[in-house]
Amino acid sequence: MRAPTTVLLTGATGYIASHTWLALLEAGFDVVGVDNFSNSSPEVLTRLHALSGRAPTFVEADVCDPAAMEAVFQRHRVAAAVHFAAFKAVGESAEKPLAYYANNVGGLLTLCEAMTRHQVHALVFSSSATVYGKPKELPIREDAPLSSTNPYGATKLIGENILRDLANADPAWNMALLRYFNPVGAHESGDIGEDPRGVPNNLMPYITQVAVGQRARLQVFGNDYDTPDGTGVRDYIHVVDLAEGHVAALRYLLDRQQSITANLGTGQGHSVLELIRAFEQASGRRIDYDIVPRRPGDVDASYADPTLAHELLNWRATRDLQAMCADSWRWQSKNPNGYQTLQTMNAPS
Ligand code: UFG
Repeated sequence: MRAPTTVLLTGATGYIASHTWLALLEAGFDVVGVDNFSNSSPEVLTRLHALSGRAPTFVEADVCDPAAMEAVFQRHRVAAAVHFAAFKAVGESAEKPLAYYANNVGGLLTLCEAMTRHQVHALVFSSSATVYGKPKELPIREDAPLSSTNPYGATKLIGENILRDLANADPAWNMALLRYFNPVGAHESGDIGEDPRGVPNNLMPYITQVAVGQRARLQVFGNDYDTPDGTGVRDYIHVVDLAEGHVAALRYLLDRQQSITANLGTGQGHSVLELIRAFEQASGRRIDYDIVPRRPGDVDASYADPTLAHELLNWRATRDLQAMCADSWRWQSKNPNGYQTLQTMNAPS
């Protein structure tokens, strides 16, 4: 029997990474997770242990720390990496551009340098539909023009460029640049999910926090967009579908020894009001909301053409809006305070 292939996950205890960790284990890979908990909780590891029945292999480290990354590669026989570790809040990136460039670009460089030293040449990179800027054509294909409208988006574009240059310089490298649309939902157990710190920036976690009574009302940012009901349209994708997309991309890199740049979306757009209604149906809770002015930088509509991922990776999203809402609700209602348990909340500080 062949030994399992070991995959390094950076940002491993984050929202998308934690679901990908489970999907990789289910697909027969071994996983080494690295995270500095800058935007996640160690409780994720306890949950992953319970869900998978295996003690997670984990290193608490900053992906920008060259010595720590070197130690990870010395200790573990890693065959490929999936690089999730990054800051991701658009608004915050405009306030703290240096922190975003240092962490998102610096972390990628440190990782690639360590991989180069250890001759590991397969890398899956968390990119984003944000690299399409304000899309001119819908659905969005991978060959659409690229641009950035904020420092966060710029770090994703720079990351893609670094990896393209690296693959051009050394054909040993195989990269999957995965452009995520709008991940929502949670593992069907309701035991891992999205746990933003502070006020959520994104729509679904805001809705779920209104549903559990942590926030009074949702603000809908604008109803005068050029969309059927006037509210913004996005391509919401279930995080477990997204996780399975990473497994498919990794297999492609390892089996075909080729690079790929692909959208991971459903191809379906849904408005803010549609998502609210679907969530109300799935949860049985009412979501009170107010229409407020547009949020600066938002686009009318964004949804993927997911054809390429289907053709090359044999992957497509299968979970519908109803499942996304039901699973987000299960996670939030089982964990009203996210990963913060009552015990730690009551502990003296
Ligand atoms: N929205 C609200 N109220 C809220 C939050 C969002 O009405 O409280 C609306 C937005 O205006 C938008 C839609 O809900 O129409 C989705 O907004 P999100 O913030 O959930 O998602 P975005 O599409 O704005 O942003 C996401 C990622 C970014 C990424 C971007 C483009 O969060 O990281 O997609 O790919 F840059």
